[in-house]
Amino acid sequence: MKLTKQEHAMLDGKEGYTVRKSMEILVALGEIFGAKSLIKVGSVQVAGVSYHNLGDAGLEFLNELAKDGRVKVLTTLNPAGMDLENWQQLGISPEFAEKQNLVIKAFEKMGILVTCTCTPYLIGNLPLYGEHLAWSESSAVTFANSVLGAKTNREGGPSALAAAFVGKTPCYGLHLEENRVPDVHVQVNTQLTKLSDWGALGYAIGKKAENKIPYITGINAAELDDLKSFCASMVTYGAKPLFYMKGVTPGAEAQTQPRETILIEQSDLKNAYDNINDEVTDIELVCVGCPHCSINEIAKVSELLKGKKVAESTEFWVATSRSAKQLADKRGYTQTIEAAGAKFACDTCMAVAPLKGRFKSLATTSAKGCFYSRQNLMKTKMGSIEDCVNAAVTGKWNS
Ligand code: F3S
Repeated sequence: MKLTKQEHAMLDGKEGYTVRKSMEILVALGEIFGAKSLIKVGSVQVAGVSYHNLGDAGLEFLNELAKDGRVKVLTTLNPAGMDLENWQQLGISPEFAEKQNLVIKAFEKMGILVTCTCTPYLIGNLPLYGEHLAWSESSAVTFANSVLGAKTNREGGPSALAAAFVGKTPCYGLHLEENRVPDVHVQVNTQLTKLSDWGALGYAIGKKAENKIPYITGINAAELDDLKSFCASMVTYGAKPLFYMKGVTPGAEAQTQPRETILIEQSDLKNAYDNINDEVTDIELVCVGCPHCSINEIAKVSELLKGKKVAESTEFWVATSRSAKQLADKRGYTQTIEAAGAKFACDTCMAVAPLKGRFKSLATTSAKGCFYSRQNLMKTKMGSIEDCVNAAVTGKWNS
């Protein structure tokens, strides 16, 4: 890989230990993937924030980097393992909280914004069209590439951090136009009537277009919340973190429709629900906000919960960013949601919080949420926000 003088100096340690280590990571990655050079990035999104996933070895690694590592570009964080303010309310142990706070401290020392959300594009880290990024949260990577028209690979936690310390990433994969060409036409022949249908669609496309870039037709309208759910699901279930959809993806019109065509029918959505939904009736945890809830989703939950009470046997989490929660406070949604006995889970989510063994069943709007919750040994049900609120209030899955 061709390096500039300044990049050579960084690799030689002229800017300290962390920059040298970061350059070693970026050069190794670049060489593996055949990059010719490094390219400047506009921002970085770092995943791997939960102490639940990092453990002591991860914390030690971060503390080492934080000694002299300071980020060179806007860098935001993915969800942590707990609500940083109200962790007790979510049943997190003091021991876990102490370690998680040390992880956050290390990130803060590096100059990273403690945003702790998987929807950075909703809270100010909004990339420009064509901008190169080094993001590592898969749903956000897909959203950035496909809805915003930015360019990013799906980074791992360490490679995203390395890009933040250098301000650059190796130029390969989805940074190159030739690798952003759609390779399969997906014709959607079915109506999408609720939020979870977008998760089911993502499942169906992810499975049928495994490791491909879909060019999607047949969808007439898509709201922001639909797209964020779809992005999370499609990449979780197998497709590349980029799709083209007319009216959604900037520049989609300029792409040639690929010859290979996959059809998505009503039966594919049904199959997705059948595969995602387990046999379970009693629901112990309900969680909406995967990816993190927008203010509109919080408003809807608040409206649906008005005058109701969450069942004794069930916990109801509304996972969102702290910024969205602050807006919800101002608009009165928080009061209604909390009066019903539901809890905000800011800065975290059901996949990265230490929940293994704590709940046996989950109801959610999210196909991605179901995928990860199964790894936490939960039986899962996916449905609309209405279905989820109903499950929270009755403690049962009724649809
Ligand atoms: Fe976000 Fe957690 Fe879902 S990181 S996309 S809420 S699994």
